[in-house]
Amino acid sequence: MPDISEQSVTADPRVREANVTIPVYGQLPFVPERASGCDIFTKDGRRILDLYGGHAVAALGYGHPHLVNAIQEQSKKLLFQSNAVALDVRALAAEKLTHQAPRGMDRVFFVNSGAEANENALRMACMATGRNKVLAITHSFHGRTAAAAAVTWNSDRWYGFPHKPFTVDFIPRDDISAAADMIRNDVAAVIFEPVQGVAGAYDLSPGFVESLRAATREHGVVLIADEVQSGIGRCGHFFAVQAHGVEPDIITSAKALGGGIPCGAVICSHEIAARFGPGDLGSTFGGGPIAAAAITATIEAIENDNLLDNVREREAQIRERCIVGPVQKIQGMGLLLGLVCDRPAVDVRNALLEHDILTGTSGDPAVLRILAPLVLEAEHVEHLAHALEALAPLTD
Ligand SMILES: Cc1ncc(COP(=O)(O)O)c(C=O)c1O
Repeated sequence: MPDISEQSVTADPRVREANVTIPVYGQLPFVPERASGCDIFTKDGRRILDLYGGHAVAALGYGHPHLVNAIQEQSKKLLFQSNAVALDVRALAAEKLTHQAPRGMDRVFFVNSGAEANENALRMACMATGRNKVLAITHSFHGRTAAAAAVTWNSDRWYGFPHKPFTVDFIPRDDISAAADMIRNDVAAVIFEPVQGVAGAYDLSPGFVESLRAATREHGVVLIADEVQSGIGRCGHFFAVQAHGVEPDIITSAKALGGGIPCGAVICSHEIAARFGPGDLGSTFGGGPIAAAAITATIEAIENDNLLDNVREREAQIRERCIVGPVQKIQGMGLLLGLVCDRPAVDVRNALLEHDILTGTSGDPAVLRILAPLVLEAEHVEHLAHALEALAPLTD
């Protein structure tokens, strides 16, 4: 038996991980060693253009100096303290985040992940209304914890818990009359993704989103926008709901929020926040100093580098240049795009990877997902367009 340090140097980490972790992930066939900008450099010398961003996390790409510096400096100054004490760095992150949120959403509760943000948002809605029914939208994905998974479409295949924490029903997506029928005064919350990420970057129609707001307001229901994937500039607005001009009661955020440092947030109005006091919610790591410094730096970089403009320009370029080869049409918003293909998206993903371009699949077998860093450049889009053009036509 070689000792552990010897194994580390010699063996493939895919084999080593398979030996010591629970095998719940299908993994891609390369091993990143480092990354810079939008490029991943692999152990065996490949340079891969990353249009997937680690599931929409790497908003600033890799090695953005403002983010790296903020994390380094904060780790030297104060690596951790919990919410038992107030911190300048946490207060600043909350101020920056609420400044970017829709008008009136001026309170934050920090957590560590998307599922944890949704779990807390749903708890808050049940506590605030005293009701025990939640509506979600067909094809939604909200996470793997008990409440977040309960409102995830088709989660019964892997849900695992013996009971769901509340009654759940699903509004057929974009069905305005079903929304009006189903949203009644026994409902605690409606949770929706403005652009359904895992479903294939499916952008809900503006009329449907407006109908959710109108009906929830009429019946005293809490409207939760899950912006875990669509937020932090990804859709060309800081939050995607801002494209619709809709103000939800709660927004949940995670993924790109810390540019790669794990963190999440529940953002709400002070009216909702006023219903909660000491002991009602909590998290040891939520709002820790490193995460808070990363949140501030990510927001500042989006502002200083004009990344919302860049996202909109790159989106326009992708829509103009990339309906070629297997791509029939494009859905989604900003750099949360679904390329609808004439063949299984997994085949297109694999073929592009052979050309050193990383994209993602989705819950829709025909849809290839683009979740590129917000710092994507025009030449990267041209590279993608050429690679798509070069893919062999379908033969029957
Ligand atoms: C819209 C949405 N909500 C929630 C989650 C869960 O986030 P996490 O994996 O950080 O728990 C995801 C993850 O893909 C997501 O896309």
